[in-house]
Amino acid sequence: MAQVIIIEDNKTLNDLISINLTTYLGVDLIQRTNALEAVNLLAILPNVDVIISAHKINDEHTSEILENYISSNKLDTGLIVLGTNEKAKNEFTVNVADPKDWENVVKSTAKILGINENVLANKVIPDYISVPVRYFLNLENVNCDVFIRIKKSPTEYQYVKRIHNSDNFSKVSIKRYMEQGLENFHVARDAHKNFAIFLSNRLVEKIESPGLEITERIQIMGDSYEVAIREIVKLGFNSETIQLTESIIQNMVKNFEKSPEMSNLLHKVINSQTGLLYQRCHMTSVVANEILKNLNYTENLAHEKLAYASFFHDIMLADRGNYSKINSFDELEKANLDEENWDLVFNHALEASVLIRKHPEAPVGVDEIIKHHHGTSNGKGYSNSIEKLPNLSKIFIIAHHFVLELLRFKENGGAPKPITEELYKRYPSADVAIIIKALEKTLKRKK
Ligand SMILES: [Fe+2]
Ligand SMILES: [Fe+2]
Repeated sequence: MAQVIIIEDNKTLNDLISINLTTYLGVDLIQRTNALEAVNLLAILPNVDVIISAHKINDEHTSEILENYISSNKLDTGLIVLGTNEKAKNEFTVNVADPKDWENVVKSTAKILGINENVLANKVIPDYISVPVRYFLNLENVNCDVFIRIKKSPTEYQYVKRIHNSDNFSKVSIKRYMEQGLENFHVARDAHKNFAIFLSNRLVEKIESPGLEITERIQIMGDSYEVAIREIVKLGFNSETIQLTESIIQNMVKNFEKSPEMSNLLHKVINSQTGLLYQRCHMTSVVANEILKNLNYTENLAHEKLAYASFFHDIMLADRGNYSKINSFDELEKANLDEENWDLVFNHALEASVLIRKHPEAPVGVDEIIKHHHGTSNGKGYSNSIEKLPNLSKIFIIAHHFVLELLRFKENGGAPKPITEELYKRYPSADVAIIIKALEKTLKRKK
């Protein structure tokens, strides 16, 4: 992910540019308040791709200081200066006269980052945002108007209001839409964020309501998981998405403590009407924690760390759940993906590990487990040589792989073969064998 520093003391302007940069270009944005702070950061992080800076901050000649620093240190960093008519004095600087012209700022940033215009055009945010109809099964009313989209001509759509802000509706009416094959409702772009907050709050209330039966609880956790990962990818962490993830993770850990039989719980999850990514998440968390238990692992927070890693490891694939089945370089090549998706899959472990660092409540070290989940130490691609990785990473890899094979077997059928044999072959080192044995202890007990 490209790194961009922004220095702009006008809050509204800063927000405007920030939201558009992250939405259109998906960059990692770092806020700094003046040139001095930015220079201090550059001293430890010289690979920053772009700095977007106000011409002056108070009495400081901000952009000039940055220009001098970049050229005297021969950095590869581009500089976009907001609010000056002057001609740029060097190759790495772009001056933007009107700072409110965020489109120009996004375009100039894209150019420096080497992102081409087509990619930008594809990412233009429409006036309405689609929201899966099934989300509404967990609501009785909603805090915005809800529309359905009707095709007017081959290129044009019309949006028709179906649910009014704060109207009550029934589950039956929502089910009817689903039976008719409607997958998405739409909400106005400006209302989307508040809708996501409203939905998250409702889901938390439901998950936490006492007396839910385990199958019901798994269902609502599955629905909530889907909402959480999609909204986090789209809108980032906010207090509602954080609360929702907390609720789901704590429930996964609690369920595990309450269920003496691993196979029973896995069975319930695998047979629930929930999405693939959620099933992978919950089951990986259960299996990983079972291994911990059998190893008598006592590290503080280890259970929590593995539950968090299970939750977030494939979050970059939120909209492409099927790609989460790719578990080797060979499988990636055979999937015949276009360049953008290939990159997405190849880097998804690394990118998820960067994202989780922004979660203020995630236990320290979760990012590492996530980065390692396909076996490489840098989070790019796939590797079977996992012996040098930390123990929790190894445990996660084994649990994760085991669950993948379990679901593959459920999907494809065929003669059952011991998954652990495949694991021994793929990860042939003595200390990984200890982990696989710990898993076998539970599997054998079942028989
Ligand atoms: Fe993955
Ligand atoms: Fe995964």
